[in-house]
Amino acid sequence: MLIWKHSNNSLAKSQNRRSTNQLSSRARSLTHSRSTLDFFNIQKTKMQVRVDDKVLLVTGATQGVGRAVALEAARSGAAAIVLTDRNAKGREEVVPEILKLGAKTAFVAADLEDQDAPSRIISAAIEQFGRLDGLVNAAGLSERASVAEADTYLFDHLFAVNTRAPMFLMQGLIRHLKERKAPGSIVNILSFQAHGASINLAVYGATKAAMSLLTKNAAFAHRKDRIRICGINLGWTDTPGEREMQAIKLGKGESWLAEAESRMPWGRLIQPEDVARLTLFLLSDASIPMTGALIDQEQSSVLGVS
Ligand SMILES: NC(=O)c1ccc[n+]([C@@H]2O[C@H](COP(=O)([O-])OP(=O)(O)OC[C@H]3O[C@@H](n4cnc5c(N)ncnc54)[C@H](O)[C@@H]3O)[C@@H](O)[C@H]2O)c1
Repeated sequence: MLIWKHSNNSLAKSQNRRSTNQLSSRARSLTHSRSTLDFFNIQKTKMQVRVDDKVLLVTGATQGVGRAVALEAARSGAAAIVLTDRNAKGREEVVPEILKLGAKTAFVAADLEDQDAPSRIISAAIEQFGRLDGLVNAAGLSERASVAEADTYLFDHLFAVNTRAPMFLMQGLIRHLKERKAPGSIVNILSFQAHGASINLAVYGATKAAMSLLTKNAAFAHRKDRIRICGINLGWTDTPGEREMQAIKLGKGESWLAEAESRMPWGRLIQPEDVARLTLFLLSDASIPMTGALIDQEQSSVLGVS
């Protein structure tokens, strides 16, 4: 999939012209020499989102955002994609789709609420394919509760799945990459709600805000290991989980989606495929050397502007 394309020749020519004729000596000192450009292969790299040869782990992979990310990774050349979810039955649909796209795959059934699930998943993935290069923490729960309503069960439940599990999955991959002295990338699917949260998403928002901090912290701690860690503050997305939440759990019935879409600037909610494209960019070498970035993927609100 193409995101941006450069013409290598025209870029090289224009840089030559500028460096010989136009740039001041100060600017020249800031311009990379040709050997530096060649060494890093900067001019030859097309800005194309590919994850060729990478072995990737995706959580929440049987539906919604996780499933879309897994399929996009397969389309983008991943060597293998390890899928994990508590819904083992869901693998019957997604595994054949990935195989059809030419990637190898393995499914690890695990409930992220179990304390030892992250280390079991990481070990199983490495055992299966010999290594792991990237991780997408997409699994999540969005049960509603305000500060006044929440009980300790809901609090622990949401923090276990949305914060503790992704944190220890990051830890497992970071340790593995450091052992191999290999670069890698991690993308955490967070939420626009992490900025403050609607009243009834207080605990949910807090789980994602905690993951924002862990994303930044780990990105800084491991920047020199060339392990890049970014997060997506995701807005309202049309997924099976959200459909069930709105129509059934919140009792809005089937009309909720059309009503919600009518209020959106683009006439639709964010689709899992939109998230998958951004995630693949962050996972891929096309986003090197970016790390620690928390990107708002949202359409109806812009942080700080009312
Ligand atoms: N849909 C939205 O509007 C929206 C908005 C912002 C952020 N997000 C985030 O995006 C991510 C994906 O959400 P989605 O809307 O695709 O959800 P979804 O409910 O459609 O899919 C979530 C997946 O995670 C899995 N999962 C949930 N709990 C698990 C557990 N304990 N162990 C293992 N797997 C588990 C589910 O089985 C499911 O396959 C989540 O982290 C969510 O918080 C979603």
